[in-house]
Amino acid sequence: YRIEIWEYCNFFCNVWNVVSVPSDPTSSPCCASVGVCCDFSDLVASSRVLLFSGLRDELHVSFMFVDEYHERLFLGGKDTLYSLRLDHTHSHNEIHWPPSPGNREECVQKGKDPETDCANFVRLLQPFNRTHLLACGTGAFQPVCVFINVGHRGEHIFTLERNSVENGRGRCPHDPNMTFTSTFTGGELYTGLTADFLGRDSVILRSMGSRPPMRTETDQRLLHEPRFVGSHRIPDSEDSADDKVYFFFTERTDTGGREEAIHSRVGRVCVNDAGGQRVLVNKWSSFIKARLVCSVPGPHGIDTHFDQLESVFLLRTKDERNPEIYAIFSSISNVFRGYAVCVYRMSDIREVFNGPFAHKDGADHQWGPYEGRVPYPRPGACPSKMTAQPSLGFSSSLEFPDAVLQFARSHPLMWRSVYPAGRRPVLLRVNTHYRLTHIAVDRTQAEDGAYDVMFLATDVGKVLKVISLHRGNMQTPEEVTLEDLQVFKVPTPIVSMEISVKRQALFVAAAVGVAQVRLHRCDLYGGVCAECCLARDPYCMWDGSACVRFTPQKRRHRRQDIRHADPAQQCTDQNLGGEGPRVTFGAENNSTFLECVPRSPQASVSWRHQRGEQTDKVVYDERVMKMPGGLLFRRVLASDAGLYICRSQERGFSQTVSRIWLDVLRADTLSDILSRDGKQKQPCPGHGGGLTSRSPSRSWFKDVLQLIGPAGLPEVEQYCERVWCGEKLRLRRKHKSMMEKYQQAQESARKGRVLNIDRKVEQTLKEWH
Ligand SMILES: *[C@@H]1O[C@H](CO)[C@@H](O)[C@H](O)[C@H]1NC(C)=O
Ligand SMILES: *[C@@H]1O[C@H](CO)[C@@H](O)[C@H](O)[C@H]1NC(C)=O
Ligand SMILES: *[C@@H]1O[C@H](CO)[C@@H](O)[C@H](O)[C@H]1NC(C)=O
Ligand SMILES: *[C@@H]1O[C@H](CO)[C@@H](O)[C@H](O)[C@H]1NC(C)=O
Repeated sequence: YRIEIWEYCNFFCNVWNVVSVPSDPTSSPCCASVGVCCDFSDLVASSRVLLFSGLRDELHVSFMFVDEYHERLFLGGKDTLYSLRLDHTHSHNEIHWPPSPGNREECVQKGKDPETDCANFVRLLQPFNRTHLLACGTGAFQPVCVFINVGHRGEHIFTLERNSVENGRGRCPHDPNMTFTSTFTGGELYTGLTADFLGRDSVILRSMGSRPPMRTETDQRLLHEPRFVGSHRIPDSEDSADDKVYFFFTERTDTGGREEAIHSRVGRVCVNDAGGQRVLVNKWSSFIKARLVCSVPGPHGIDTHFDQLESVFLLRTKDERNPEIYAIFSSISNVFRGYAVCVYRMSDIREVFNGPFAHKDGADHQWGPYEGRVPYPRPGACPSKMTAQPSLGFSSSLEFPDAVLQFARSHPLMWRSVYPAGRRPVLLRVNTHYRLTHIAVDRTQAEDGAYDVMFLATDVGKVLKVISLHRGNMQTPEEVTLEDLQVFKVPTPIVSMEISVKRQALFVAAAVGVAQVRLHRCDLYGGVCAECCLARDPYCMWDGSACVRFTPQKRRHRRQDIRHADPAQQCTDQNLGGEGPRVTFGAENNSTFLECVPRSPQASVSWRHQRGEQTDKVVYDERVMKMPGGLLFRRVLASDAGLYICRSQERGFSQTVSRIWLDVLRADTLSDILSRDGKQKQPCPGHGGGLTSRSPSRSWFKDVLQLIGPAGLPEVEQYCERVWCGEKLRLRRKHKSMMEKYQQAQESARKGRVLNIDRKVEQTLKEWH
């Protein structure tokens, strides 16, 4: 299906004037995999993107939080916090928040880089309550947290509560480059990070709130050089005592002795975990983890694994217990570099956590499933209504038997792995020139059901908009890249991306600034049903007259076909060819050219000539030649006049590209008029010295120009200027009637009536003169 995508891509790249077409198309960039390419200027010109890049130099955005409640976007940067209003005012505030006095100097003394390390890089911004945000930063390798007053809804307060500054250790990493995840829930902060200066103490930690802090033991069996990617609270049952916080990360692992590898993990802890009484005091008693597999089945049962987790997105659904988990993985080997997107179901994750624990008898033994008796309450289960029944009596992890805690401590890993839905990725990108850094997904309703539209951020400032389709019983899903959006002018790594369904917008942050991008611009797909249909964008439909945002209401004229993209099915009763024919003039015995550029270079083109009732195929010869961009008459004859229809054919779909009315003039008509006055005239004052493109007679002018060729341009300009400068009033009147007559002629042509247009134009020109 690669080739199909490539064709599809060309189809649209032509429309959108791609700036960077790859020299070797198979190697990747823009078009190798892309539907519509929108470069930066397209996006700005179409008001698709709004940019904020700060007042001074780069923003250095390191954290972003879209606050729908306050209708504001909060950004954390280097020594700075920003608040942008998301209403029409787009006004913004900022707070300067440098490291505490002396910390910067101390950081430099300890050998860190003054520019890239010894500043306060904001890594966390979470709503704390209705009026305050919790903000934490690296504080020049001395993490610090503070409350920010943002006021009530509608107020535009943005101030730092000076007296609330606290040590941020355990809530924010020291190193701005270290991976970090946090989630704030129930007044408590859950973090996954390395919590010391040297970057050795990797922990999952719970802090703030009224309970004592809770953490993982320092033990490589629990966490081995983890890189944290995401964390979310997800309820597991009706009983909120069963709620868990899930962590997504990668870690080093020994795969049975010989070599170490990187594996991706999903781990979890119970929200109501209180640790043990004698064992595991203030340490998680419920932490368990499992491997997340994302691989492509290969021949002979050898799968290609994508082991490195890069980004996770939780697609929340109506059933809050069962969000879908979208994740980007990478694989970097000597042979190739690739990315895959896998989707996981909570039911599969739970099943693995309810399955056997992984067990190893000793360092020299192999891993296997634990087959002995697992103590009760089963490690990883939360103390809940179930375990608190009078006959059992475990209402808190503090009451768990030591045997349970000992088992939990020695068996944190599950034996089975979590496989993605469909057992394979929904998307693959191999040997691309960019990296995929973040994913956000929007589920949108379309004609034939819901579609998950994936937005994939890259390290080159662009965002890819992709859907993945399952067709019939085909095993490999079909990827359709709908758009390739160059959000930033310069190639720059995107550091954060958030979706706002409410605003139908995507917020994209990079060091240079932040962009708000509309999720769709249906009108840009084109003005005919077939183009709208071929775009396959679930957000868009043809409503009978335009490509617009899909709405389930407008049933009558609605056309959309995401799965098959078959305009022949969808659009045959719709207006395919656009408006009536254009009129083109040809001078007898001279050359003329009828333009016809199909959207796709793969399409084959055919010409037909209609004269009165009769329609014939155009016969190509020495005189009439079919060219890539149209039909060339090297010497046009009076008998060539009539209607020309250019049709393109591609993948079985045939479409009228243009209809042109050719009128043949006697060659001397125009030159005669033009030669009557050869006197040089000064450019008309205030007229910019020529015809502007906004001139109302532009379409007429173009036809005349075509008739006389570019060599005749100065003559026409002179002629027109004389008329414009000399008699503006008379011109206006005359011009009006001229335009009317011209339009009448065009109208007649459209109706298919053969008119003697040449004489009419000649007459009008003379009148005008
Ligand atoms: C929110 O928390 C801050 C910091 O603890 C406190 O000063 C403020 O009064 C709280 N606001 C509300 C509405 O509870
Ligand atoms: C962080 O990353 C920057 C840029 O990649 C690098 O210059 C700097 O040395 C890194 N800092 C640490 C502490 O690794
Ligand atoms: C066009 O060429 C033909 C044959 O060469 C000639 O008879 C005719 O007069 C020419 N017409 C004009 C308008 O030059
Ligand atoms: C054909 O058109 C060109 C300008 O495009 C003009 O220079 C030339 O004289 C014309 N030839 C005839 C035979 O009219």
